[in-house]
Order: sequence, then C-alpha cells, then structure tokens
Amino acid sequence: MLPAVLQNAHQLHDYATAVLNECGGTYEFKGPWFANMNMLATCDPANIHHIMSKNFSNYPKGPEFKKIFDILGDGIFSSDSELWELHRKTTMSLMNHAKFHQVLEKIIWDKIENGLLPVLDHFNKMGNEINLQEIFQRFTFDSSCKLVLDYDPCSLSIDLPYIPCEKAFNDATKALLHRHMLPESVWKLQKWLGIATEKKLAKAWEAFDQFIYPCIPLKEEQSNGTKVQDEDFSLLTGFLKAYKGKRSASGDERDFMRDTLLALIFAGRDTTSTTLTWFFWLIALNPRVEIKILEEIQTNFHDKEDKTCRFFNAEESRKLVYLHGALCETLRLFPPVALEHKSPVRPDILPSGHCIPQNTKIILFFYSTGRMERIWGKDSLEFKPERWISKHGGIKHEPSFKFPAFNAGPRTCIGKEMSFVQMKMVAATMIYNYHVQLVEGQSVSPSDSIIIQMKHGLKVKLSKRHA
Ligand code: HEM
Repeated sequence: MLPAVLQNAHQLHDYATAVLNECGGTYEFKGPWFANMNMLATCDPANIHHIMSKNFSNYPKGPEFKKIFDILGDGIFSSDSELWELHRKTTMSLMNHAKFHQVLEKIIWDKIENGLLPVLDHFNKMGNEINLQEIFQRFTFDSSCKLVLDYDPCSLSIDLPYIPCEKAFNDATKALLHRHMLPESVWKLQKWLGIATEKKLAKAWEAFDQFIYPCIPLKEEQSNGTKVQDEDFSLLTGFLKAYKGKRSASGDERDFMRDTLLALIFAGRDTTSTTLTWFFWLIALNPRVEIKILEEIQTNFHDKEDKTCRFFNAEESRKLVYLHGALCETLRLFPPVALEHKSPVRPDILPSGHCIPQNTKIILFFYSTGRMERIWGKDSLEFKPERWISKHGGIKHEPSFKFPAFNAGPRTCIGKEMSFVQMKMVAATMIYNYHVQLVEGQSVSPSDSIIIQMKHGLKVKLSKRHA
C-alpha cells in the first residue's frame, strides 16, 4: 500500500479521507515488511471516543510518538504518565491564575494595535498584495513568545524581518509529517546523512535552541531575582518556580525548561494562525457569512462616530456568537492538528470491531472526521456557521469525539478558550476595519505538514471599510 501513499503524499489528508469514507471510517494499512509502517487508520467517532476517553489509560502516546517528535523532548506533547500529569497540572494551574487572562488580553491587544494594524495599513496604502498566512504566523509567533517567554521578537513589523526561529516552525512541521509517510529506516538514514527534510529539521532544531535558551534565566539570575519577580505574573516565572530542580532525560534543568516552553510556543503559533487563515479564505468564498458577521458586530456595538479604526476586546468578542460558529465551522473543515497517534499498551477491540494487538500504530484522522457525510450530513463539505448555533441562539455543543479539533478526553487542548479569545479579537477587528479580497488565480490546498496550513499561503488584497 506504500506506493499509493507516496503517490498521494502531496494531498495526504484528502486521500486518507477518500479511503476512510469508502471503508466505513477505519482502514488497516500494510506497509512493506521491513518498514515498521503497519497501522490502523480511523476517523470513526466511536473509536475516537474509546481511544481518547473511555479506555484512555490503554493508549499513551507511546515510544513511537516520542521517536517521531524527538524535537519536542520532554515537553507536554510527547510525555506520558507521571511526567504528562505534572505538565498538565502545572500548565493548567498557571493558565487558571487570576492574572493570566488579563496578561493574555493585553498581549493580544498590543499586538493588534502595534503589529497587525500598522502592517495591514502599510500594505493597504502601498496597494500591494499580502500573504495573510504569513501575517498571522508572525502575529501568533510574537504573541506566543511574549506570553511564554516574556519576550516579543517583533517579527510582525512592516519590513517583515527574517527571524530563523519563526521560519523554523514551517520546516519542522513539514519534516514531521514526512516521518509519518516514510519507512523509519529511510528517515533515520536521511537524518544520519543530513539530507532532504531531515536536514531542515536539524536546522530548525538549532534555531529553536538558539532562540529559547537565552530566554531562560541562568540559575544565578533566578536567585538574585533580576528576571523573576513575584509581583508580575508571567508563565515563564511560574514554570521556573514550579520546575525548580526538574531535569530532562539529558539530566539538565535548562533542557527541561526548553522542552516545556517550546511545546507551548508550538501549541500556540501554528494552530491559531492556520485557523485564522482558513477562516478568511472561507469567508471570502462565502460573502453572506461575512455580511452576517458584520451585522452581528453592528447589532452588538455602535459604530464609532468618526468611524476610525475600532478594536474589540475579549469581553466584547465573547458576545459574537455567529463569529464563534464560523470559527468552529472552520475548525471542523480544517482542524490544524489533522491527525493524532496512539498505541495500545494491551490488546484491545475497538467499537468498529477491529481487534488490535498490543503496540499497534493507530492514526486518528481528525481532518476526515470533520468531513464524513455519515457524521455531519449531506452538506458536510459546505461552510455553514449556522450548524453551530443552537435554538436558543448560543453555541451548540458538539461532543469532542465528533469534533476533535481540540482533541478529546483527558488530553483535550488546554488552550481552547484562549485561542478563541485571540481568534475572535483578531477576526472581529479585521472584518470591521477591512474587506479582504482573494488574489485571483492562486491555488489553495492543505500543505503536506503535520499542521494543515495552506501550501502556498493565502494571497489577498485589503480595502479599508471606512475611509
Ligand atoms: C485553534 C487553536 C488550537 C487548536 C486547534 C488546538 C488543538 C490541540 C490538539 C489537537 C491537541 C492535542 C495534540 C496532541 O495530543 O498531540 C492540543 C493539545 C494542547 N494544546 Fe492546543 N490547540 C490550539 C491552541 C492552543 C493554544 C493557544 C495553546 C496555549 C498555549 C494550546 C495548548 C495546548 C497544550 C498545552 C496541549 C497539550 C495537552 C495535553 O497533552 O495534555 N493550544 N491542542
């Protein structure tokens, strides 16, 4: 079966969806005998529910995940059991801190005011087209770094500076998908030879290290309090205190902090920027949705008298239910984390009837779950924010195993709420102030990457709504 996968490597997510659709949602993949590639692919909500929630303890990420995602070290994404519990508990308690949401809102607001709008204004004045995906990636990179490292690299500025760490994310996520498609021996050989996507991954690794290590205060700086102050809440300060003395597998405390912080920047950067990019593409193709979002904004908030630039804070954007539905609909069709790994510790039988021996590689195709006709109805491929609006006018709850964009069960995304705050503040501000028009003739498709960005970016032209 490997040749078919390689032939469709450029459109892996759609290929998998077509195959899974034909097979009722679950498919046993057989690779060459030497390649350690046999796996079970599924997008069936009953299987997802079973694996992610009901029988969670039998499905750790496992050594396979750690091998492929070695760049993430001992961070939350690749850890299991006690280490995962420690990361989860610590991160959640920091994000539940009374000041966290205040700090988050200020960071987003500042980045919109001093980064996003000046850059959009500049391109608008010049009449140039822009790559909206790149703008959002820079936006979320800066805001994630400020939130996690207490340092804003200002990659979102008019001259769009080259910052190796910012670009490294794209190379890393692409290489990580290739590791899923190639026999282990092949990507390991490429790594050893330093060629192909493995070469880029090694460079990305270097760029992450060079960027993150200098942000971690040395022991002496921590103890004399030059960087770590009690009165100011910051995630970095919180993690430094919580993980004092904690070492990574390499035996180094700073390595453990590096892994912890990198995971959070990874979590925040690509997921949110990718969702915003697909969202603006979808509303450009569905002008009636754009009109409804504008109407919702106008019904809830009065125009400013001088009609100059208007921003929306977290509290205001919470009122925008239809906009929330449109973002959920975007995440249903384009979940940024399109697939997830699992491996049973003990043999199991899935609700679909498949018997799976211990250590079977299981890939959950979240991208396909969001597109199945038998799950979402005949209009499953249409962009309809209305399907998210309940009879009472609020957001309709869909179980996470049917809508797994934020994962399901005990490993559900910790940043779900904050990502909606961020996306709604950005989307409402942009839609109120600008009309986004697609540049004609561009081809838009999901990239071959672990995060489904747009392969060639999204080229748009902007026009101001209020002169
Ligand atoms: C649209 C935005 C987002 C989406 C779609 C999303 C989706 C996901 C998914 C699918 C996972 C599971 C990944 C895995 O286990 O391999 C996950 C985990 C996680 N997400 Fe998010 N995420 C988003 C934004 C964020 C943000 C802004 C943060 C905050 C920094 C965040 C923090 C995390 C963390 C810490 C985990 C690990 C949870 C665990 O393993 O227990 N996410 N997210």
